[in-house]
Amino acid sequence: MAKVTIDPITRIEGHLKIETTVEDGVVKDARSTGNLFRGIEIILRGRDPRDAQVISQRICGVCPQSHGVASALCLDSAFGLGDKIPNNARLMRNLIQGVHVAQDHVLHFYHLGALDYVDVADVAKYQGRDSELNSVKDFISRGQLGPFMPRYEGDYRLPVEVNQMAAAHYLQALDIRRTGHEAVAIFSGKIPHSVGIVPGGVTDIPTVDKITAFLWKVKKLQDFIDNVYIPDVIAVASVYSDYLEIGAGCKNLLSYGAYDLQGDDADLTRRKRLFKQGAVSAADLKLRELDMSCITEGVKYSWYEDSSSGKHPSHGETKPEYGKPEAYSWVKAPRYGGEVYEVGPLARVCASYVAGDPDITRLVDWALGELKAPKAALFSVMGRHLARAISAKVIADNLEKWLLQLKPGEPTYAEYEIPEEGAGMGLTEGARGALGHWIEIKDRKIANYQAVVPTTWNASPRDDVGTPGPMEQALIGTKVRDKDNPFELVRIVRSFDPCLACAIH
Ligand code: FE2
Ligand code: NI
Repeated sequence: MAKVTIDPITRIEGHLKIETTVEDGVVKDARSTGNLFRGIEIILRGRDPRDAQVISQRICGVCPQSHGVASALCLDSAFGLGDKIPNNARLMRNLIQGVHVAQDHVLHFYHLGALDYVDVADVAKYQGRDSELNSVKDFISRGQLGPFMPRYEGDYRLPVEVNQMAAAHYLQALDIRRTGHEAVAIFSGKIPHSVGIVPGGVTDIPTVDKITAFLWKVKKLQDFIDNVYIPDVIAVASVYSDYLEIGAGCKNLLSYGAYDLQGDDADLTRRKRLFKQGAVSAADLKLRELDMSCITEGVKYSWYEDSSSGKHPSHGETKPEYGKPEAYSWVKAPRYGGEVYEVGPLARVCASYVAGDPDITRLVDWALGELKAPKAALFSVMGRHLARAISAKVIADNLEKWLLQLKPGEPTYAEYEIPEEGAGMGLTEGARGALGHWIEIKDRKIANYQAVVPTTWNASPRDDVGTPGPMEQALIGTKVRDKDNPFELVRIVRSFDPCLACAIH
């Protein structure tokens, strides 16, 4: 029996430790520990409700737009604006969040995930004329190997030319991310923490100039996703096809749906959205309606007071108790109907896939066909990478449609008054999955604010009945060939694209 501990896990956001027990080369037990607590939910108490939209974006520097949207939807509902947001504002929120999430998927594949599969050392053998690749080659020849080394060794399988091409795409992807960030700033002022999305709508008005500037950037992003990102994911998944069978995890998926296609239904669980909301299990691949009353957060194994365990987030509590016996993480354990659920691009793509969305069905069936893989292969490390690329494409393809629906000169904001008392819920999909914010207002101030964030679901520790979280389940049962180079484990963890700042907040 051996302990394999990876601390910290690099190339993710935040502070994650993974501890496993390996017996006869197989993971028997796994624990996921989120380190670093900040207490943003506590900071929000007693403040003007409008502060929530500004402060909750500070939960994360990678995912602020999604928190901005979740918080704005939460405040819209608390202020009685759930069905009164002008069309222009709905579209501009979709554009700001969508372009941000699409470039975030590019970030994950190239700058975080791909280095598990691509041997950048092969750039040392590069003989071509690409000036950027030659400058990387220079760095490598001088022994300056960061950010690519140190790393685990022993399982790089792509041919030399493919590795070199992927390294060139790594560099191009940096440029694409800048383009995506510039597009966010067009309608939203700045990045990372934007000022454009507010309760009631957005602060900017669309002009022909801005629409044109945004369109050009979207075209560049679309071109990269179609011609570089998707082919690269298929290429990596074909060579590492065993990863279509590794890391399945709990096989329950939960999506809140995202990108409103209508604004006149105050019930976010029924609103028509680009990505469908609902729960899907691998057993029957059917979409079940979203029931938000089924969500609880357990803290038996988290560093919070036990008295706050098992509550619904609308009256959830955050009472830190570091060092509590048996607890091992700052991440709480959200559950849906008491069961463990994975969230993320796989969940939102699968929800739309099993609902028969034509565009997503075409893309998923095409990708599975290219890989000669069955539907069950979606529940895997490569299934998550594939779903993320499909999510990026679907979003990017719709950005142009939403952009052309904007009506320059028409309103982007609805007036409101802060109620004496009230409650609200905001649901969306961040890049990393289902994101919910809940507010309770008393005396026109925030009485309570709770966020249940994608990585809170995925990186959760055991729940009150001792069932491991999704990432822990995905690790348990995995074969580890070399415990000094546990490729399999980091590939599984990174396929979830963890964001620990979001998870703990
Ligand atoms: Fe929370
Ligand atoms: Ni985040």
